[in-house]
Amino acid sequence: MKCYVVTGSASGMGRAVTEKLRAQGHTVIGVDLVDAEVLADLSTPDGRHRAIADVLAAAGGRLDGAVLAAGLGPTPGKERLRLIAEVNYLGVVELLEGWRPALAAADEAKVVVFSSNSTTTVPAVPSRTLAAFAERDIDKVCRSVRIFGKQAAPIVYAGSKLAVSHWVRRAAVSREWAGTGIRLNALAPGAILTPLLEKQLATPTEAKAIRSFPVPIGGFGDAGHLADWVLFMLSDSSRFLCGSVLFVDGGSDAYFRAKDW
Ligand code: NAI
Repeated sequence: MKCYVVTGSASGMGRAVTEKLRAQGHTVIGVDLVDAEVLADLSTPDGRHRAIADVLAAAGGRLDGAVLAAGLGPTPGKERLRLIAEVNYLGVVELLEGWRPALAAADEAKVVVFSSNSTTTVPAVPSRTLAAFAERDIDKVCRSVRIFGKQAAPIVYAGSKLAVSHWVRRAAVSREWAGTGIRLNALAPGAILTPLLEKQLATPTEAKAIRSFPVPIGGFGDAGHLADWVLFMLSDSSRFLCGSVLFVDGGSDAYFRAKDW
């Protein structure tokens, strides 16, 4: 049996992954704000340091895999921009860099990062925003989207997921990751019915935007089904998967860019 870490283990897709891994007999170290083995606020440097250290201690220096599901949705609010950027970007890359030696110590560890289909379906993420993410300068990220006013949250959200996907693809093929046997990939869901989406649906303007968004299959995705994709990406069958961003979104990405991949 294997030892995994799952961030965002208390809710939605992270919770579904945690339950399914445990049902298979694996050990899961959950990381979340509440109801987890490691309690840590990934929006702060201290919280991220604690998550890195406490997980390494709990795992005994060896991790067979990691699932980075903690994240915040594109809910508007000035203070929210910083939180989205910190949790969705730094809460992935800093943790993975901290856990990398433990992942390298395992035999063919697998990592799944939650991206989003907003990476390809939300237009107009400025290149300066992506550059600021790559520099890990969150003040600069927030300044870079000021021009969008009340529409800034979806831009920062899509920017955080684009930036984290770029990081996954760059790191995945490097000596530190592929070279040490670690498989690093991302999953890009469309609208999945979890507490995150339910919160957005409870706000009339956000609900209208979500419900009018083209989804060729129709409706919303299921958290348990997305968890099944994660379990497959953690399995031995995925040993040849490296640096991929897998869209599971009812067809929206294909609808918007059939020829562009
Ligand atoms: P959720 O809201 O149900 O669960 C997210 C978890 O992250 C929660 O348990 C929450 O406590 C944790 N979290 C949030 N802020 C945190 C912080 N500062 N420190 C530690 N933990 C924190 O969300 P859901 O829908 O399961 O989302 C999982 C991932 O999938 C997220 O990264 C999200 O951006 C992404 N995603 C979700 C989509 C959806 O439609 N639900 C669509 C595309 C991507």
